[in-house]
Amino acid sequence: LFSAVEMAPRDPILGLNEQFAADTNPNKVNLGVGVYYDDNGKLPLLECVKKAEADMMKAPSARGYLPIDGIAAYDNAVKALVFGADSEPVKSGRVATIQALGGTGGLKVGADFLKKLSPSAQVLISDPSWENHRALFTQAGFEVGTYAYYDAAKRGIDFDGMLAALQGAAAGTIVVLHACCHNPTGYDLTPAQWDQVVEVVKARQLTPFLDMAYQGFGYGIAEDGAVIGKFVAAGLTFFVSTSFSKSFSLYGERVGALSVLCENKEEAARVLSQLKIMIRTNYSNPPTHGGAVVAAVLGNPELRALWEKELGEMRVRIKAMRQKLVDGLKAAGVEQDMSFITSQIGMFSYSGLTKDQMVRLRNEFGVYGTDTGRMCVAALNSKNIDHVCASIAKVV
Ligand code: LMR
Repeated sequence: LFSAVEMAPRDPILGLNEQFAADTNPNKVNLGVGVYYDDNGKLPLLECVKKAEADMMKAPSARGYLPIDGIAAYDNAVKALVFGADSEPVKSGRVATIQALGGTGGLKVGADFLKKLSPSAQVLISDPSWENHRALFTQAGFEVGTYAYYDAAKRGIDFDGMLAALQGAAAGTIVVLHACCHNPTGYDLTPAQWDQVVEVVKARQLTPFLDMAYQGFGYGIAEDGAVIGKFVAAGLTFFVSTSFSKSFSLYGERVGALSVLCENKEEAARVLSQLKIMIRTNYSNPPTHGGAVVAAVLGNPELRALWEKELGEMRVRIKAMRQKLVDGLKAAGVEQDMSFITSQIGMFSYSGLTKDQMVRLRNEFGVYGTDTGRMCVAALNSKNIDHVCASIAKVV
């Protein structure tokens, strides 16, 4: 049965973790996967999470099956976070939200639902995009194309190219957009550019699928979420996937969501019923712990304020590391202007390094980034920055 099964290539992002774990270089640094580490190189356990868990342990609960769409308080907290607690979509009940297995799970539930709904639609992702976008929508049965996004020469966005691609897309095309902190480039649209994208999406009758995995890592929770309000104001219906992996440092709990904004409450109920079929036939219902923790934090004003503070600290530290990286590269003798690193936003820097340079960084210096030149600046710290800068200086 399995004799003809081919060996699949390693995952371009998570596969690096396997290689990193096996590396015996004592100076190794993992800038591959998008994970935030503190200045001691430790994965943080947020205080707000610790407190919520301590409260939960005071009255430990049994672990029955959750509803297919997850914990109601969690889904409501997600709606409030994504759309605003007092927003019209939330008040009118026209958002269908399900608890998902991370942001990836939200994307997949949405992709499977869309495949049933619009089987012949094309999916467009940014060029480049998160590696898993193409794989995930392809696995869901879609043909995946790209819209222009990154302009290497400009070290920024090819916005005219992006608009032209969206303008040329057939009605019904599913457009995957990064709501904030574009992965992998770190270049985000300006609010005025978003307005233009929304206009084209509406005029061309495209289906927006907003991936919001980094809310709070750009400029702030509300600031990063503002783009959602633009799509709402335009009267569009659309998909939003949410991840709490990074913003709560709950990577392994697989805690995310999918929200679908519908025309009205009755439509949202029908959509929700279909999303539940996608979930039930894939993994039945979500796990209890991560969703309960996030719901507890978001539902308690004190813990929520603590979360915002801790998230803000992560955001500020990443920005400081960007500056240290620019300065460190200069000090290490890199002649080219690397100041673009501080104009990028979120966890990643698209460094412009070639695949060969990235492979050398890995093999000769134990510095891991993706083959595409993406580096997770959220994993830099005061102890590893010199080694990273010296290593980059040797390969460029
Ligand atoms: C990343 O891009 O590194 C993260 O989103 C983690 C992942 O699942 O790929």
